[in-house]
Amino acid sequence: MTTVVDRIGLLVTNAPELGDGPLGLRHDAAVVIDGAEVVAVEASGAVADRRIDADGACVIPGFVDSHTHLVFAGDRAGEFVERMAGRPYAAGGIATTVAATRAATTAELLATARARLHDAWRGGTTHVEIKSGYGLDVEEERRGLDVAAELTDDTTFLGAHLVPPDFAGRSDAYVDLVCTSMLERCAPVARWIDVFCEVGAFDADQARTVLRAGRAAGLGGRVHANQLRPGPGVRVAVESGAASADHCTHLTDADLDALAGSDTVATFLPIADFCTRQPYPPGRRAVDAGVSIALASNCNPGSSNSTSLPLAMALAVREMGLTIEEALLAATAGGARALRRADLGCLRPGARADLAILDAPSYTHLAYRPGMPVVAATLVGGELVWGDEGSRNY
Ligand code: NIG
Repeated sequence: MTTVVDRIGLLVTNAPELGDGPLGLRHDAAVVIDGAEVVAVEASGAVADRRIDADGACVIPGFVDSHTHLVFAGDRAGEFVERMAGRPYAAGGIATTVAATRAATTAELLATARARLHDAWRGGTTHVEIKSGYGLDVEEERRGLDVAAELTDDTTFLGAHLVPPDFAGRSDAYVDLVCTSMLERCAPVARWIDVFCEVGAFDADQARTVLRAGRAAGLGGRVHANQLRPGPGVRVAVESGAASADHCTHLTDADLDALAGSDTVATFLPIADFCTRQPYPPGRRAVDAGVSIALASNCNPGSSNSTSLPLAMALAVREMGLTIEEALLAATAGGARALRRADLGCLRPGARADLAILDAPSYTHLAYRPGMPVVAATLVGGELVWGDEGSRNY
């Protein structure tokens, strides 16, 4: 069946060959979809079996959220209250969520993760990466990934999120478990492997070991890097050929040079910096240095309990010095690059038909109207997952 999203006032394609500037902008446009794929970008008035009327609104490629921890139980609101009163964020809080997640049934984990995904759709997100990391033993990590795999094909094995209490003082022994039986059990349902390289979690050598083992098992690398202080995470990510170094809150000039000369995307997670009272990452310096960047939500119960990419964009513009165009590209095409997905993050023929119809005439409103419900409808693979086919109301 063909579908047309018609009467688009301003269309962002992220395909420069289809329109103006890096966003590939088109006016008075239509996107034609066959099944789950974009097949054409045309002038308004295109014909198809089904018609969705954008009524002059702006349409963007859906957000590609390349860093989430959507599978978890419980909340840590108390920790947030303490942080707002001045207590710093520490890696150890992860253990609280590990206990709650282990105690939850699989049905509960799937239902709550699905509800978070539905929230993400309402904010215009059309693809999520989902990590394990709240199981921290062989079967619990596999269970987290099985739940994640119900919701996405970008699943990430994060057994190296924290050393669990039963391995206290024996972090090398835990890394050994992660790289042997845990990896063997998890690799069949994971596309990626990730490691939290940070004081209180895993050091540079342990991170290298985890990434090497993952690569040998056929998994691409990702690293939680330079979140709480300057450190070796970014350089480990680059040396290991990881697809993405995530957080990058504290970047030295050497880190920027290393990223700029590599295929590793710097994925910024400014909602986590907001919620943990960290400084914001040096987004402007990174772009000016030639670093390839992404913006993601980092949805998790400890440092960033939100799936809102519009909020991440607003923070990136207000606090990190990005232009609105750079922030939009980072949250769409940048996320796709961080996941090495050519089929996502743009609206050119052949791409997955993932898009958001805004309740606004321009993508500027994503940052200009912070906290407001700017997304009117969301399509994933050509299917309407949020909103309706009717007239918009901006
Ligand atoms: O990316 N930093 C490590 N992992 C998450 C936080 C997880 C938690 O606190 O539960 C993050 O911020």
